[in-house]
Amino acid sequence: MSTAISPTAYNYKVVRQFAIMTVVWGILGMGLGVFIASQLVWPELNFGLPWTSFGRLRPLHTNLVIFAFGGCALFATSYYVVQRTCQTRLISDSLAAFTFWGWQAVIVGAIITLPLGYTTTKEYAELEWPLAILLAIVWVTYGLVFFGTITKRKTKHIYVGNWFYGAFIVVTAMLHIVNHASLPVSFFKSYSAYSGATDAMIQWWYGHNAVGFFLTTGFLGMMYYFVPKQAERPIYSYRLSIVHFWALITLYIWAGPHHLHYTALPDWAQSLGMAMSIILLAPSWGGMINGMMTLSGAWHKLRTDPILRFLVVSLAFYGMSTFEGPMMAIKTVNSLSHYTDWTIGHVHAGALGWVAMISIGAIYHMIPKLFGRAQMHSVGLINAHFWLATIGTVLYIASMWVNGITQGLMWRAINDDGTLTYSFVEALQASHPGYIVRALGGAFFASGMFLMAYNVWRTVRASNPAEAEAAAQIAVVGAH
Ligand code: HEM
Ligand code: HEM
Repeated sequence: MSTAISPTAYNYKVVRQFAIMTVVWGILGMGLGVFIASQLVWPELNFGLPWTSFGRLRPLHTNLVIFAFGGCALFATSYYVVQRTCQTRLISDSLAAFTFWGWQAVIVGAIITLPLGYTTTKEYAELEWPLAILLAIVWVTYGLVFFGTITKRKTKHIYVGNWFYGAFIVVTAMLHIVNHASLPVSFFKSYSAYSGATDAMIQWWYGHNAVGFFLTTGFLGMMYYFVPKQAERPIYSYRLSIVHFWALITLYIWAGPHHLHYTALPDWAQSLGMAMSIILLAPSWGGMINGMMTLSGAWHKLRTDPILRFLVVSLAFYGMSTFEGPMMAIKTVNSLSHYTDWTIGHVHAGALGWVAMISIGAIYHMIPKLFGRAQMHSVGLINAHFWLATIGTVLYIASMWVNGITQGLMWRAINDDGTLTYSFVEALQASHPGYIVRALGGAFFASGMFLMAYNVWRTVRASNPAEAEAAAQIAVVGAH
């Protein structure tokens, strides 16, 4: 569906495209998550083929959920928020369209190359150099569109949500370009420009800030717009949001070494990473509390509004994972949790509970507005989705806690004579029930995405182009 281009209207076309693709990639990425979770229960599902083996599909899962699903949600919401809060159209329709098609091309490239085994081997930065360069070009263009739009804003003030989106865009560009510095030896193979412990440190400076800026700061931008909007209440404390912003971006960048405890990385760097991670609890919780307290006087809305429930529960999981993270960064705790499923549980408390839930809430908020409808086709289906997602997340993380602590304790148990009490296989056998529960939880979560796809499809189908165009008109007065 397309709308007439009018200079007095927001560019909703690109927002619609990214919003729809968020749902599509969500289904694919989470579906693949359920598949690899099932491979860990039934190894026969590897089919004895290299292309379908766990080792190749796992990075495809992470790329699809983080960059395809999460990335499209961030593009969609940032383009929506920056236009509405600056009361102006995106600075360039063609550059915005380029970011859409370029981003989809990178994702399709990942879907082809990762199962074929082409990888840099750096986690979350697996794409080989031709795709990495395309990604860098798309990202810089994204920066031009976003910041260009801010420069032509009709409002005096730059809304705080845009600060978070802006930091996410700038820092992601920096991380991606520095970590990807490499020497290509063929079209499909390159070697990192760094070596040894330096390479590891740069990789986890990237990896941790991929979490901090891609999976957190961008989504906080989303939170600062959609929570007040859906609750129809102003942010609890605008002052706190500014303190939150500066404290978060100042601290996150130092915490990467907590991924390299007890490695060849100098000890002082590990301790610095640990200390910074513990301090990070403060701004993280400051932001979480600011979001939660925005509901003051609107808590009753949770009874009837499942979209608001998605947004609030996402904040609760954000609070939970940012409490757990600093604890896991303490070296003695990490000596138990590292390499175990506890880490995987922590990841998905953040990924499912926070990132996916806030994105789902934001997309449900935007879809009717983008397509000129009063509300989604079915509120009942959103409610069903909410429960599937919440129960799915709880099953996932609870099973991984049990598995993680079991594994950590079994691996370190020693007999009086110093030999290991348990073999690795015994710990694996003890983990099997947890893997079944995790796959079940994942299936719950992923099936909710199908309800969402159906609900979005019915809403879009009922849309009328004239109403959609009217909805895109720029409101010159009033709130964003
Ligand atoms: C239906 C939902 C999902 C299921 C069933 C699922 C399943 C899995 C499985 C089985 C693994 C591999 C674990 C291992 O190696 O032991 C994994 C890894 C991972 N997943 Fe998911 N996932 C889901 C959704 C998501 C989402 C929405 C995100 C991000 C937004 C995400 C991010 C990740 C990351 C970052 C890892 C790598 C973790 C690490 O290396 O420590 N997943 N997932
Ligand atoms: C204050 C906030 C946080 C801190 C201090 C923190 C800390 C940690 C620590 C210590 C680990 C384990 C490292 C290891 O043993 O290998 C970890 C892993 C991870 N965390 Fe967090 N975390 C925080 C928040 C989050 C959030 C909100 C998310 C997701 C949205 C997240 C995603 C991840 C991922 C993906 C990994 C796995 C990385 C890998 O090994 O592949 N974290 N985090």
